[in-house]
Amino acid sequence: MEKYHVLLTEPINTQVMDFLRENVVLDVAERGSLNSEAELIERISGADAVLSMLCNPFTETVLSSSKKLKVVANYAVGYNNIDVAAATRLGIKVTNTPQVLTEATADIALSLLLSVCRQINPAEKFLRDGNFDGWHPGEFVGIELHGKNALIVGMGRIGKAIARRLNGFGIRISYHNRNRIDISEEKALNATYLPDLESALNDVDFLFLSCPLTPQTRHMFDERKLAMLPERCVIVNTGRGPIIDEEALAEALINKKIAGAGLDVFEFEPKIVPKLLDSPNTVLLPHIGSATRETRYKMGMLAARSILDILNGLPDSKIPNLVTG
Ligand code: DGY
Repeated sequence: MEKYHVLLTEPINTQVMDFLRENVVLDVAERGSLNSEAELIERISGADAVLSMLCNPFTETVLSSSKKLKVVANYAVGYNNIDVAAATRLGIKVTNTPQVLTEATADIALSLLLSVCRQINPAEKFLRDGNFDGWHPGEFVGIELHGKNALIVGMGRIGKAIARRLNGFGIRISYHNRNRIDISEEKALNATYLPDLESALNDVDFLFLSCPLTPQTRHMFDERKLAMLPERCVIVNTGRGPIIDEEALAEALINKKIAGAGLDVFEFEPKIVPKLLDSPNTVLLPHIGSATRETRYKMGMLAARSILDILNGLPDSKIPNLVTG
């Protein structure tokens, strides 16, 4: 029987690529070579399925350019790079990689908070630059975590994993979400539901953004809402960059309207608003939330398996990571 053709838009874990090669004809594109509609259109024409990265724009134009395409399996839990409604209309299935990256991403959120609050990066640079001349009481004095108030916006799997970690630090937790989570889960997480986001902002020490990017969450934190936060607030964003107006965030940091920011995602990735690079008390990471060996392997296998299962005709009910639009 003729094998299916699968396009992988960038090399991933070797074991996952080997697994795919055993089952399909695999076309592996070069790193970063398919980040525009035109490049994608040209390369997907022969593919039955694509294992895609979050920087590949699967717009309606791209999706409708192929008569053959049956699956787009996104190597990410977020899928704002895919027009799911158009895919559904065109009969193309979309999958993502939920669950497997929850713990790794929550770890990065806490790493960002700790790095900002305890000035880890400048302190380490100070030492490496040969400036450490003994213990002094006034150097690198940061923000204590214990006893502070955190607000988690987006209480999905990653938000809950962040909450579990915050409990260990003795931080009080509130959350804002489209829907309230189970009361029993709220109790287990020590988390208080705040349905009205704006009224919750004035007493937040640490604001965690872990919601998906949707038309409702784009610029959820604009200049006006940023101004509602207290000056002591540190923002951590591991969701998607455009949830915050990055220009307004940089202004708030520069003008000391907030205390700091730890960001793993950016509004115009991979470009960073220049002002942000010059903003004080910021830790900026190149979108590495899910970047652990274990997690990346699991993401790859989950995406690869969903491609094979869909191409082999498994019913939707048997594809746990199917995205419905
Ligand atoms: C995701 O999965 O959406 C992350 O942003 C990348 O792992």
